Order: sequence, then C-alpha cells, then structure tokens
Amino acid sequence: MAGRIPKPFIDELLTRSDIVDVIDARVPLRKAGKDYKACCPFHEEKTPSFTVSADKQFYHCFGCGAHGSAIGFLMDYEHMSFVEAVEELAARAGLTVPKEAGAAFEKDKDTGADLIELMREAARYYRQQLREHPQAPRAVNYLKGRGITGEIANEFNLGFAPDGWDNLLRVLGMDDSRREALVRAGLTVKKDNGGYYDRFRDRVMFPIEDHRGRIVAFGGRIIDQGEPKYLNSPETPLFHKGRELYGLFHARDAIKRENRVLVVEGYMDVVALAQFGIDFPVATLGTATTRDHLERLFRHAPEVVFCFDGDRAGREAAWRALENALPVLREGRQISYLFLPEGDDPDTLVRKEGREAFLARLRKATPLPDYLFDTLSRQVDLGRLDGRARLVELARPLLSKMPAGVLRQMMLDRLAELSRVETDKLSMIAGNPESVAHPREIRSSSSGPREPPSMVRLAIAILLQRPELARAVSNEWILADLEMPGVPLLIEVLDVIKGAANLNTASIIENFRDSDHKQNLAKLAFWQHPALDHDLEAEFTGVMIRLQAACTRQKTERLLHKKEAGDLNQAEKDELARLLSLKRDNSRLSPPRH
Ligand code: UTP
Ligand code: MN
Repeated sequence: MAGRIPKPFIDELLTRSDIVDVIDARVPLRKAGKDYKACCPFHEEKTPSFTVSADKQFYHCFGCGAHGSAIGFLMDYEHMSFVEAVEELAARAGLTVPKEAGAAFEKDKDTGADLIELMREAARYYRQQLREHPQAPRAVNYLKGRGITGEIANEFNLGFAPDGWDNLLRVLGMDDSRREALVRAGLTVKKDNGGYYDRFRDRVMFPIEDHRGRIVAFGGRIIDQGEPKYLNSPETPLFHKGRELYGLFHARDAIKRENRVLVVEGYMDVVALAQFGIDFPVATLGTATTRDHLERLFRHAPEVVFCFDGDRAGREAAWRALENALPVLREGRQISYLFLPEGDDPDTLVRKEGREAFLARLRKATPLPDYLFDTLSRQVDLGRLDGRARLVELARPLLSKMPAGVLRQMMLDRLAELSRVETDKLSMIAGNPESVAHPREIRSSSSGPREPPSMVRLAIAILLQRPELARAVSNEWILADLEMPGVPLLIEVLDVIKGAANLNTASIIENFRDSDHKQNLAKLAFWQHPALDHDLEAEFTGVMIRLQAACTRQKTERLLHKKEAGDLNQAEKDELARLLSLKRDNSRLSPPRH
C-alpha cells in the first residue's frame, strides 16, 4: 500500500510537517540541546532516551531502538495504517492526498473496481427500496413497530434488501467484472457452479461507515423472526470487523462535545439512543472490544463507558473488555462500566425509562478499577490471610498488563490496602508492565551499529545527517565498480537525495519504508560516532576520497590479475597504466587515516 501514494507527495508532506509538534501533542517533550527528549513511550524507562530531532524530522530511542518519521510515529503510537497516518498529517498541513493515490488504494487489486463507490451505490439502492419497493411496507412497519421514526431511519441511512436472489445483482451486476467486484465487496455470493446471488435478502439494512464516513460494510436484520438475526458483511478488502465500530463516524462530533463515548452491543441500541438524543454511542459488531477499538476510541475522547447487559453473557463480555483495556489504560484515559438490569438492553431501557433516567444511570457507571477489585474481591474471603493472598494472585496478571504510571501505581496501592501487603512488595510481585504500545524487542542499549565503522557506513551516516552534502558528489559512478558491503545502499541513498529537492532525514528514510535497510538507516541517522562530532563536510570529503582510492585499488588489482593470466587487451593496458600513475599520486595526496 505504501507504494500507491506518490513518493514526491510523501517527501513534501514530511518537509511541511513538524515531527516535534506531532509527538509533543501526545508525548510531552523537553528541549535538550538541539533535540527534544522524553521517556520512551514504546518501552519502560526512568531516564529519557527517546530523542526527537527537528533537523532530521525523525525520532529514535537509544534504549529500545524504536524509530521513525512523523508517519511512523502515528502508525506505531496511534495504531494508524500508513494511509491513515499520511491523511492525518496531510490534513494538519492543509494538503490533499493526491487524487489518483486516493483512488488507487480504494481500487480493488483483483478486479480493479472502486469498491467504495460500489458500496455507495448499494446503500443508495437499499435506501430507495425502503421507500419504493412493493414489499417495503413490511420493513417500514417493522421499524415503526420498534419505535424508529422516519427521521432517524433517514439519519442512519437505513435501507431494505427485498426478498429475492438477484435484486441487487440485476441493478449493479451488469457484467462479469461488476459481478466479481460485488463478490469482493461482500454484497454478492458466488456459487460453486459459477452463478451469483445476493447476500442480503428480505432484511433491514444498516450501512456501516469507516472512520472517514465511507460505507465499508452492511449489517442486515431479519424482519421479525429468523436465523441469523443479523447478517453482516464478511471480511473484505474494505472491512475488518475487529477495527470498525458502528456509529463512530456519525457520533464523532457528539463524542468530542461530550468528551466521552458510550460503547453498546447492538445496531438497534445505537439507533434508539440517538433517537432519544443520546448521540454518542457506538457498537462493536458482534465481536469483543479489541485493543484496536479502544485505541481508536481514545483518539476521540478520554473517557469510554461500556454498557453491558446484566446477564451472564454481558458480564463475561465486560470482563473480556477489561482484559483488553488494561494495556491501553494510561493516565488521562478513563473507562467505566454500566450494567443494565437483566433482560434489558439500551434500546428497550431508554424507551421504557426515557432519556434522563438513562443519563442518570450513565452518571453512576462503575469506574474500571472499582469493577476490577469488586469482581476479584467477591471471589475471595478478604477476612482470611489465604484469601488476601489469593486476591494478590488474581490481581497480579491483570495489573502487570497495565503500562507503568500513576494509574497503575494507584491500583497497586489499592491492592495493598485490600490485601494488607506493602505496596513495595506488591510492585515486585506484580512484575514488569507491558510496554505502552507494541511490546518491542529490547535491543542491547547501543547508540549505533556494533560493527566497526566502515567508510561506507560513515558516508551513509553523514548523508543522512546532512543530506545537502550529496550535492557535492559528482562522481558516484565510480562507486558502481566498488566491491564493498554497503556500497549499493550508499548509491541508493545518493540517488534518493539527488532525485528530489531538499529532502530531510525523515523523507530519505521514508523512501526505504519497505526495504530491509530501513532499520539500519534509522540507526545511522542518529549514530554518534566521534568522527561525526566535528566538521561533517570535511569528514565526508575525506571518506569519499578514500572510497575513490579503494575503487582505484580494486580495479588495479583486477587488471593486474588479468595481466598475469596474460589476457589484457590494449584498452585495459592503457587503463592499468593510468591507474598505476593515479595510485602514485594518491599515495602522496590522500589525507591521513583515522
Ligand atoms: P443483540 O442480539 O443484542 O442485538 O446482538 P440487538 O441490537 O439487541 O438486536 P435486536 O434488538 O433484537 O434487533 C448484539 C449485536 O451482535 C451482533 C449484531 O452486531 C448485534 O447488533 N449480532 C447479533 C450478529 O452479528 N448476528 C446475530 O445473529 C446476532
Ligand atoms: Mn435489542
């Protein structure tokens, strides 16, 4: 996917964005010399080794090796996809992601169809059927019977898939390639014998929008009774169940205004609450709440309230949500639980009790720490020493999932109080918390590559740290003949820099996003070799002269070998003579070695 957005756009984006702003808004930075520092958000540490360079527009952690551009940071820290991160930065910089790129990643790679457009057409069709189809009264009466007004049905873009095997197919599947695209979009099913049929039949249709309001899936509810009650789009190139939340795009402004988001279980719950003016709910799509969901929600508001049925299934779902939430529970993020009376869901309850009563319940939602300790305490006898020990045993794996910080410490204090074990002892027992984002492999704390500095590495490092020096290189063609590890990479880096105007370090490295070299380049960009402390320009000239000399030496040796074998032609003889005279000059002129 990375390749679909034109490189020059990424280059421009990274020169127009400021990584310091992007990171500082999420991880407060302190100025340290010409760089900025903070404790690394990707691993646990007490002294800051996470370094952000404004010159390089790149970050690097000397502790765990995490690194990247502003794009990479958003991907790792906010769990965005590459395209999402690019869009976010573009929006901040007031740039539009080039149209053909936008279209390119929406185009299905197998059928070449624009699946998003297809989904839009399908939604329009279903919506129209709810108004016009001879069977529509069935659906309309069903919705009315559930108390849904025409206005709210309109707001949520509800539709109707009439009964029959090929209603949608006849309208949208005019040729084979369109029919294949409908299959890719999950709207049509292909039979073993090659025929097709509509996936959604005789159902009320709920379009599911992604974070940008594009329809990526549908949920279809059976009218009255039948199985399955809800039929959802399968996983498609557009739709990943564990990522999307029903109603999120629709509710985004209300969520911002309320500073909180309500997570419910069903489509109907979202729609019913919205009808009663409670306009900040979202629903998971018949799956448990994942970490991805939570990261996504916390990007919109600092407080998430889960609403679960009071029955056993609801309590189990609540506990699963808790386990997934602990790793993302940092300072400033709050989670609470609202348990409903058995037999009710938000839809039935808000219709029964009304808006105010529902909001009052919401105000009394249980904070996650209380829910956690209440649940565990109920499983043990706190009046007994072995009961309190058991509590510690039960709480330990849970608290160790939390990132280090004030909240975790407060929960440890609470556990200390309940179990009457000193906090210090508990901290040891509770073990090390997982790192905040992806647990990363902690590499040996090195400030650069471990191998001895070769000239080639030095040349690459200097180019990354001062890209403009590449302009001084006019004879990179000689490098092509040089047999030395790293030379192809050096040539590539030179090419990248010379191929565009004014690249900064981050843009250079972004050009290597899909390459095995990215990691290495990132290290070199922050390499603190003594040779790099002083005059980079002089150092670079020196290195290039030495590389040129090495090249001459190698060529000379190759020709001398050939000469011994007795098969030098005239041109090669001349070349050898020239090289030998050069070598004499070089040995007189070359700068002292380090
Ligand atoms: P519920 O059965 O609680 O849904 O399932 P609901 O919204 O209250 O349904 P109504 O009120 O009877 O219409 C919760 C969610 O689980 C998923 C759907 O996302 C549903 O909204 N689900 C449920 C399915 O995907 N398939 C099913 O067969 C049932
Ligand atoms: Mn319901």
